[in-house]
Amino acid sequence: NLSPIDRAKLAAARHAVGLIENGMRVGLGTGSTAAWMVRCLAERAQSEGLDLTCAATSERTAQLATELGLNVVSLDEAGWLDITIDGTDEFDPDLNLIKGGGAAHLREKIVATASDRMVVIADPGKRVAQLGAFPLPVEVLAFGMTATRRLIEEILESFDVLGRQITLRMDGDKPLVTDEGNHVLDLHLGRIGNPRQLALVLNQVPGVVDNGLFIDICDQVIVGHPDGRVEIHD
Ligand code: A5P
Repeated sequence: NLSPIDRAKLAAARHAVGLIENGMRVGLGTGSTAAWMVRCLAERAQSEGLDLTCAATSERTAQLATELGLNVVSLDEAGWLDITIDGTDEFDPDLNLIKGGGAAHLREKIVATASDRMVVIADPGKRVAQLGAFPLPVEVLAFGMTATRRLIEEILESFDVLGRQITLRMDGDKPLVTDEGNHVLDLHLGRIGNPRQLALVLNQVPGVVDNGLFIDICDQVIVGHPDGRVEIHD
């Protein structure tokens, strides 16, 4: 009685968990697709007695994984990871991503880049010809946020984008606070002509901690379908 989209997410998650071998150090992503992967991984680890070391990309994921019996340590304790499996908000034909719909993109990027491989699991709706329909999350320091926002607006003036609206991500009536204690600005760009350049330039603003563009980080995307089929992009 799962919805078609959940069956698609589960199919991708299951396939990705099949890549895990005994003794591996595994990065655990954040979001609803990644949560399916954590459940599948915990099931496999238990039934096969796998000895795994996991590092999580958010407090939420760490809690879920720990509750399900996985061995979760800090990224520093893990040192380096063999593989990270995470969801995404969008992926393009070059396997570049927009992440951070769950406000976890900073830790997600740190964990993914501290891994030999990043495998993304997705439902078919995440695939786009060009990134940008999903608002681009930018994690910013609370200090000087108005000035930071203004500098981002100036940067966007010279970029090939369709829209330039910026909104502060809220959590009820307060600005959302990330696991690292920062806020998130969502950039409603519609289409991003040059994501590689934008990713670099946004991070030049001192108040920007990191943006949700993942360029040349993802090695493989596994797209699940409601009927259980998977499609591999690499
Ligand atoms: C979390 O910050 C995001 O990067 C997630 O990976 C993304 O929002 C995907 O979430 P779903 O799997 O719930 O779509």
